[in-house]
Amino acid sequence: MSEKKTFYITTPIYYPSASLHIGHAYSTVATDAIARYHRQRGDETFFLTGSDEHGQKIERKAKAAGVTPQEYVDPIVAGFKELWKLLDISYDGFIRTTDEHHVKAVQKMFKKLYDQGDIYKSKYTGHYCTPCESFWLDRQIEDAGGVCPDCGGPVELVEEESYFFRLSKYADRLIQYIKDNPTFIQPNSRTNEMLQNFLLPGLEDLCVSRTSFTWGIPVDFDGRHVVYVWLDALSNYITALGWGSDDDSLYKKFWPADVHIVGKEIVRFHTIIWPIMLMALGEPLPKQVFGHGWLVLDGGKMSKSKGNVVDPVQLCARYGVDAIRYFLLREVPFGSDGTFSNEALIARINTDLANDLGNLLSRTVAMIDKYFAGRLPAPSVTAEEDAALIALASELPAKVDALMNELHIPDALAEIWKLVCACNKYIDVTAPWTLAKSEAGQERLKTVLYNLAESLRIVAILLIPFLTSTPANMFSQLGTAPAQSALAAVAWGGSVPGSQVHKGDSLFPRIDVEAELAYFGAEADKAKTAAESTPTAETTPTAPAKAAHSEEQAPAEIEYDDFAKIDLRLAKVVAAEEIKKSKKLLKLTVEVGAETRTVVSGIKQWYTPDDLVGKTVVLVANLKPVTLCGVESHGMILCASDAADENLSALTTLAPMESGLKVR
Ligand code: ME8
Repeated sequence: MSEKKTFYITTPIYYPSASLHIGHAYSTVATDAIARYHRQRGDETFFLTGSDEHGQKIERKAKAAGVTPQEYVDPIVAGFKELWKLLDISYDGFIRTTDEHHVKAVQKMFKKLYDQGDIYKSKYTGHYCTPCESFWLDRQIEDAGGVCPDCGGPVELVEEESYFFRLSKYADRLIQYIKDNPTFIQPNSRTNEMLQNFLLPGLEDLCVSRTSFTWGIPVDFDGRHVVYVWLDALSNYITALGWGSDDDSLYKKFWPADVHIVGKEIVRFHTIIWPIMLMALGEPLPKQVFGHGWLVLDGGKMSKSKGNVVDPVQLCARYGVDAIRYFLLREVPFGSDGTFSNEALIARINTDLANDLGNLLSRTVAMIDKYFAGRLPAPSVTAEEDAALIALASELPAKVDALMNELHIPDALAEIWKLVCACNKYIDVTAPWTLAKSEAGQERLKTVLYNLAESLRIVAILLIPFLTSTPANMFSQLGTAPAQSALAAVAWGGSVPGSQVHKGDSLFPRIDVEAELAYFGAEADKAKTAAESTPTAETTPTAPAKAAHSEEQAPAEIEYDDFAKIDLRLAKVVAAEEIKKSKKLLKLTVEVGAETRTVVSGIKQWYTPDDLVGKTVVLVANLKPVTLCGVESHGMILCASDAADENLSALTTLAPMESGLKVR
């Protein structure tokens, strides 16, 4: 195992614009598991999380709620902390960007960059999207058809005096740094994305102050300006350690960060703006930025009305914290997108936790209880099948270590489960209940039960970073002192013969799938009814809610001739790809009879390119071409969707039909 050191890890700091959901819990639980892993190895670890509280969006929400921005965010941030407590998040620092020490340090940073000429005053003209907190250039808005290229929502034209940060000056140095440090951006695929999509085409200087709102850190030498959010937000990673304050001992000890864990959509800010800020400040760069994927719901967006309960508080109340932590850590390769569904969650709980692990423990303890009056027997007669089990258990810590060093969290758990499954197989092969029946089998039975209890002890130690109450429960049932939980105790042979086991409750009760899904169905119906009858707090003050289906105004009657003007055709999707710059758009190549054309469709949220290739869809073939995100689109795919755009399906034919045929 590699040698002991300091280890500094961070999550993004979350916006207190609403309560956090399972996606935020995903980042934070993963970061927690990595932090706990390093503590278990003996590394001196600092784990930072927090809240990103400034900006126009919060200012507007507070205004709509009739409170000050600070009054608006305080209870939400308190809710963050409650959620992290519930999920057993072992953070060492929680930074709020409204903390006085952060505010002072950001002002100091801004002034330093201004004094050295890296920040300068100029005029800003651009389009601003409030929900995305993003500025866009004319060109980008034109390409997107007049809307925000990210969310497709309306943008505001703004012109104001602003301060700018000279990103361009450092671009070459950053490109070289990324090339020289191939593990700086992880997973690897994201390195190429940053270089090709952002750095190599050239960086524009970044607007870092605003005068059109006031909820931000004031630029102390120019009171009309507040620091614009990314400079404020990113600097949290060092201000939390005391950078720029009288006591920077934590900074000296822990910086540079070992890894910033972030969602893939903010990798760009962390691997371009943040390193350039640090270069300009003359500070070392973080060792790694890891961009994990998104947790999406079946068919896209997370939503209660779909019947998938995504509120982590409710999930923990229903299944227990460790079950939720296990699911989040195990289900999706860390770095890739993955789907959250109640079915998948219940399957993981029933299969991995209740059947594989829970049953193994209860059977082992029950057999020691029954055959040896609850005292762990000393190993005695050995047989061929023991060696493989012992080898697997002995090699496991090093394998888990290697995987955790690469942040392959689900693989580390899968590796641990190999031992769990090997134990279950070992029970089948050795058939302890048969050994118990004969005098001759007694000595062999001792070894079998010792080997099972010892394997479970090792499993419990290795699970400590991932699950927070289960390992202690396992130690207690196995009669092993919790003090043996350190990684140093993981070597084979640590269980002490004669220890008293304690039969306990099952670790993870099995869930009745049908009853559970029926429960979620009923909850979904309730949520739907509530959503249809009462506008939610989320939809009322900020934007007029979309009309519910039943209230939609039917368009006026038309003549057949009007309908006949629309040339609807069957089209076969022969290729599809994501438009990287856009959250909504897919570029489809469709075959319409003998013709092939490109169609841009805003359905990325509901379909992956692979879902569509080979499918026959209905195309409005005579629509005027438009350019969306730089791609010329020749037609439009027809889809059905509900009022809230939560369920969407592209239209197709009941029977397979040739492309090019007319739809009438
Ligand atoms: O972006 N799947 O804050 P934020 C996985 N304040 N992770 C998800 C997720 C999902 N569906 N939804 C959210 C901000 N996340 C800025 C960050 S950092 C200096 C400033 C996680 O509240 C993921 O980590 O919008 C994502 O990057 C983060 O929450 C966004 O949180």
